[in-house]
Amino acid sequence: MMAFIPPAYVSQDELADRVGALARALVPRLRCEPIVIGVMKGAFMFTADLVRQFHALGIAPRLDFITVSSYGFGAQRADAVAIVQDHSLEVNQAQVVLVEDIIDSGHTLKTLQSHFINKGVAELLTVVLLDKPSGRATSVLVDSVGFTVPDGFWVGYGLDYAGNYRGLPYIARIQP
Ligand code: IMP
Ligand code: MG
Repeated sequence: MMAFIPPAYVSQDELADRVGALARALVPRLRCEPIVIGVMKGAFMFTADLVRQFHALGIAPRLDFITVSSYGFGAQRADAVAIVQDHSLEVNQAQVVLVEDIIDSGHTLKTLQSHFINKGVAELLTVVLLDKPSGRATSVLVDSVGFTVPDGFWVGYGLDYAGNYRGLPYIARIQP
């Protein structure tokens, strides 16, 4: 059982509005047969909402997931990023929409972007729900950002602290 349920910093309504706006902005950039790839586990909820918004706008992308793990635990940051389970759809020559929960140091997205470029994607669009610029250690280009957040540890809407809070329907800041 979780001892403490943190209050919302970004509410469910704000998330829904923003995800809708992100989808509307992305749709004109989507070509035929885009593949949406969510980064597990943190982006599972964001990815689920984003693809439903795409469908509401008449776009039916294929969906896949990739699981990465940084060598660290809890709120500890780590530089080394490992792909622990790769996606399974063929992405060579495809347009890929990479969906991530948060960009902090930038190492995870940088690793993932090279991974997809090396697989010969035709185009890679990167979408992140949260951007925490205070943590940046390497420069990374992303195509869309949901919310820019101040320094701190963010949980909920897929994001966890040591495995907890992923199911929280909103974004909250905790003191790890
Ligand atoms: P980066 O590689 O440092 O950019 O970190 C990205 C990864 O670290 C994300 O995919 C998250 O899994 C995790 N992470 C970074 N900051 C937070 C946070 O505030 N809350 C939850 N997870 C975070
Ligand atoms: Mg993540």
